[in-house]
Amino acid sequence: MTPSFEDFEPLYSADQLRERIAELGKQISTDLAESDNLVVVCVLKGAIVFMSDLIRYLPHNVTCDFLRLSSYQGGTQSTGTVRFDFDLTQPIKGKDVLIVEDIVDTGLSMHFLLKALSAREPRSLKICTLLDKPARRKREVPISYTGFQIENRFVIGYGLDLEGRYRNLPYIAALTADKQAALDGNSEDALHAPA
Ligand code: IMP
Repeated sequence: MTPSFEDFEPLYSADQLRERIAELGKQISTDLAESDNLVVVCVLKGAIVFMSDLIRYLPHNVTCDFLRLSSYQGGTQSTGTVRFDFDLTQPIKGKDVLIVEDIVDTGLSMHFLLKALSAREPRSLKICTLLDKPARRKREVPISYTGFQIENRFVIGYGLDLEGRYRNLPYIAALTADKQAALDGNSEDALHAPA
């Protein structure tokens, strides 16, 4: 059964997010200071809020682009087949590309995306994710920048959704431990589709 908003508790406050994103932005700016063609790629929809805040700490000559992935759902289980819903609007050959993601969970989406974008021969290709949930990993992916590592709890807010809702919460909330345990007893994959 789909959890309700009352089943969630605060995990990271707006202040904690702001502070960590400022740190990430400064780190990325330092690392990519020499780049004159940095493309920041927002993975829709979950990364919209994170990307909007992050880019304000980046050098003013960056460009932004967007793509969207979807993973095929058969019943309640994700098959792990990822594809583009829509793609970038610019070639990235020879450019420095920073993928901005909301959360790396199984790693299937980022594994697919890294393979697809590296075939276009960017000069560099890095992942920056706000959240990392390593316990659920099915595919290892190299992550250059991580906001927070979290345990296996379903999270909402600050771009992350539950069936399309709660992206506009200014903080991140996690399913309570007992609700998560109940969910894990059933099939939780339906809650984790890229969106
Ligand atoms: P993947 O399993 O690493 O391929 O993650 C795919 C996508 O599932 C992420 O980009 C999110 O959009 C979504 N997702 C994974 N875990 C959560 C969560 O805890 N809350 C909301 N969305 C999630």
